[in-house]
Amino acid sequence: MDAYEAIVSKRDTREYEPQPISAEHLRRIAQAGRMAGSSKDEQPIRLLLLTEPDDKAAIAQCGDFAEHLPGSPLVVIVVRLGDSRPFDAGRAAQNMMVAAHADGIASCPVGIQHDDCAREVLGLPSEATVAMAITFGYPTGGRAQGRGSRRIDLESFVRLGRWDGPAGL
Ligand SMILES: Cc1cc2nc3c(=O)[nH]c(=O)nc-3n(C[C@H](O)[C@H](O)[C@H](O)COP(=O)(O)O)c2cc1C
Repeated sequence: MDAYEAIVSKRDTREYEPQPISAEHLRRIAQAGRMAGSSKDEQPIRLLLLTEPDDKAAIAQCGDFAEHLPGSPLVVIVVRLGDSRPFDAGRAAQNMMVAAHADGIASCPVGIQHDDCAREVLGLPSEATVAMAITFGYPTGGRAQGRGSRRIDLESFVRLGRWDGPAGL
């Protein structure tokens, strides 16, 4: 699978085989996140890796749409330091999910809406904030499946030059 195919075929997937992510795959996921560029090269992103059932169940309580999180073999907590830009976390997160997909691993971002809850559960220092949780696992049936939602078409997605410019490509 080349980079373009990995990007356009990745679908967020919430059901996984129970087996743990291999050490080699785990390392590649973390490495893909680490290599994302950041604003002013400040490198403000850190990862917390959760594999223990109690840890996953606890952080699931801090999100409003995290039902599938406890049953996921790996949960990566993407942590932002200081007042870093959300874009930095997004780059690292998407790198990890696309690289994992190319390695045959499914994933889904999960919002952690309750900061105080996450801070307590994870023992975060004051300068650290959870940007996102991401679940990972080997997909059931051997391939990643999303919910089948369609993206908006390019006519709606792209405008040329100005907001009131021509639409599409
Ligand atoms: C910022 C963000 C937050 C999300 N939060 C959740 C979440 O809390 N729980 C969940 O199950 N999916 C979550 N998702 C996944 C979206 O529902 C998913 O990207 C969207 O439905 C498209 O899915 P598809 O890849 O199957 O087309 C989130 C996605 C993004 C980008």
